[in-house]
Amino acid sequence: MQTSAPTPVVGTHANQAPPAGEPAKITARDVNVYYGANHALKSVSLDIPGKSVTAFIGPSGCGKSTFLRCINRMNDTIPGCRVEGRIGLDGDDIYDPSIDPVSLRARVGMVFQKPNPFPKSIYDNVAYGPRIHGLETSKTGLDDLVEASLKRAGLWGEVHDRLKAPGTGLSGGQQQRLVIARAIAVNPEVILMDEPCSALDPIATARIEELIDDLASQFCIVIVTHSMAQAARVSQQTAFFHLGSLVETGPTGMIFTNPKDGRTQDYITGRTG
Ligand SMILES: Nc1ncnc2c1ncn2[C@@H]1O[C@H](COP(=O)(O)OP(=O)(O)O)[C@@H](O)[C@H]1O
Ligand SMILES: [Mg+2]
Repeated sequence: MQTSAPTPVVGTHANQAPPAGEPAKITARDVNVYYGANHALKSVSLDIPGKSVTAFIGPSGCGKSTFLRCINRMNDTIPGCRVEGRIGLDGDDIYDPSIDPVSLRARVGMVFQKPNPFPKSIYDNVAYGPRIHGLETSKTGLDDLVEASLKRAGLWGEVHDRLKAPGTGLSGGQQQRLVIARAIAVNPEVILMDEPCSALDPIATARIEELIDDLASQFCIVIVTHSMAQAARVSQQTAFFHLGSLVETGPTGMIFTNPKDGRTQDYITGRTG
């Protein structure tokens, strides 16, 4: 059924689903999350492909951030939070006792709503991860990695002459690109983004969306967004959550023009949310 939903403006990669038959990068099976007695996420099973952008949409409180945090075990850090089920990353069970959550978070980076650079220089923000993970030890190696990461995050041109200045002195949009550079510097496989543009103005938002589009050729990106227009612009797959359940997932174009479930339909046409 066609809807009168706001017609999505599709990004350059949008709707180009990864080739069929590629194994999923992330496989979630029967994931349940509880905060004490609150059953926040209910039997979520989802495949997320690599080298593309998957958007999580749905009304506030439906479990999008909760599910995102399952993917790099950030929920481990929340007292009273319990996660059940299985999440595979290239087939590795990330909840297996042999998995070190700190190493996992280098493979699966995260960017939050509010830019959170460390109270350190621009250089040290980016060099931090490679240093603690021992990826680069020589000064020139680290210099090169910082430069390359800032370039990949589209920030080098604006900061190359003030690498020793504090990261917190940058504009909000620049800080968010710095945080993305910090995530990229440890060469992750997955980048999780939880409403990364909601504290940014439209111009800074557009720059982050362009960056997401560029990064999608190298990383598996999962973005939570409350903006359906943003989901339509940046993602190839969309998953719609409602009251803790994953209602529907599919190619972004299909979710926005021809959803199968009435709840998705109601959300994208603005009847709920
Ligand atoms: N740190 C937390 N402690 C307790 N309950 C939480 C916490 N984070 C989320 N919740 C609860 O889990 C449910 C899903 O929240 P959340 O994942 O933040 O939704 P969304 O990101 O879709 O807005 C809500 O009922 C929320 O109150
Ligand atoms: Mg959230």
